[in-house]
Amino acid sequence: MADQHRFLTETFSAYTQAEVPPIEENLQRVGPGTPGGEYLRRFWQPVAQSAMLKDLPVKIRIMGEDLVIFRDKLGRVGLLEMHCTHRGTSLEFGRIEDRGIRCCYHGWQFDIDGAILDTPAEPEKNPYKGKLYQGAYPTIEYRGLVFAYMGPPDKKPPFRKFDIFENPDIDFGLGEPLGGNLKPCNWLQVMDNVADPVHEAFLHASISGIQFTDTNGRTVEELADKGEDDYWETDVGVLCHVARRVKEAVWVRSMEYVIPNIIQICQMPLLPPPFASGEDELTMPQLLTRWRVPIDDENTIEFALVYFGRNDERNYVSAPSIALATNRGGRSYEEAQRTPGDYDAQVGQGPIARHGREHLGRTDRGVALMRRIVREGIEAVERGEDPKGLFRNGAIAPVYANETIRRASRGATPEEDRAIVRRVSHDLYRKTLASRPRTWA
Ligand code: FES
Ligand SMILES: [Fe+2]
Repeated sequence: MADQHRFLTETFSAYTQAEVPPIEENLQRVGPGTPGGEYLRRFWQPVAQSAMLKDLPVKIRIMGEDLVIFRDKLGRVGLLEMHCTHRGTSLEFGRIEDRGIRCCYHGWQFDIDGAILDTPAEPEKNPYKGKLYQGAYPTIEYRGLVFAYMGPPDKKPPFRKFDIFENPDIDFGLGEPLGGNLKPCNWLQVMDNVADPVHEAFLHASISGIQFTDTNGRTVEELADKGEDDYWETDVGVLCHVARRVKEAVWVRSMEYVIPNIIQICQMPLLPPPFASGEDELTMPQLLTRWRVPIDDENTIEFALVYFGRNDERNYVSAPSIALATNRGGRSYEEAQRTPGDYDAQVGQGPIARHGREHLGRTDRGVALMRRIVREGIEAVERGEDPKGLFRNGAIAPVYANETIRRASRGATPEEDRAIVRRVSHDLYRKTLASRPRTWA
């Protein structure tokens, strides 16, 4: 863990801590051979959207590695090291073939697994063809995204699915623009944001006004209530609750950190809640899964899957509403200053946030827990073990995000009411955990 700056105890004392603390090398670096990079490489990661793969190869950079991704004319996806193994020309200028891709410079042809299929200028009998390989990574296409496994081949886990992915009542959409959503900062500070539900009351309500497009009838005052926050470690990560009093009900906003770089959130329930007759509670369907994949130490790309309930009248969202403008770059500097959003807050922490100059408080418990899980995962990989969150038995894993509104009378005093709000939140956590099959291994 980073040594933290002491809190300054004197006015006008910036001079005494002008030195910038170093980054956490083990945690924040993502390149090949770095502890954090090796950890992330143990999981299948989304690296592109299927729709990006047309008739030209696409150059991408993932975890500090330059790669080229393409769909060959047989329809198979290839993910190869960008520099041709012959003399290093970039395969982004290559020609897509029936099988694989052909380098533009001297025509060497590589299959999607890296096999050298053709070396046209070399003698027919040569040491390359059928014997040597271009660097390649295995891929899987799933729900419009291309996932790659970039870790050690002998440690490759089965592709991890969540229960929500396999729900037959759900349609899928892609929640990011073609090519993903780019943020010029380290992946971990983009992730910190999910284990930090309290920021929503400030950044997305009292500071910048309402920034969510699916607030379903809430006022800025209701959204600006910081509420009662709680964090629980689960089989898959951290479940984060913020519970707030809204009229004669308690609204529990529930977000989830899923190991190692995923956020899972639900739709926000309508106000007033359309409780079915005889019921006192409404739990919402899932909204989205979003991956934050490092491009390198100082850049991150986001990919998302958005869920639409089929024949589900509780489904209030449409795909564009998920694309928060304030979660993106490209706004004017003045606009960003006047109504900062997630993008500005995350990128504003610097290319790689310096944990040594942070001063974590009570509402940073989720962030601290998430980082502990990542640190422990890194240590497990260094010991030669599987990190938490990886599973090898092919089971469908549960995700727990469960945004809910429950009827609950007000307490007689503010303190009593806070206790009621918190009790509902804790009760829902237990109920959620009990209701999901624990198929994790
Ligand atoms: S550099 Fe690619 S074939 Fe020569
Ligand atoms: Fe946010």
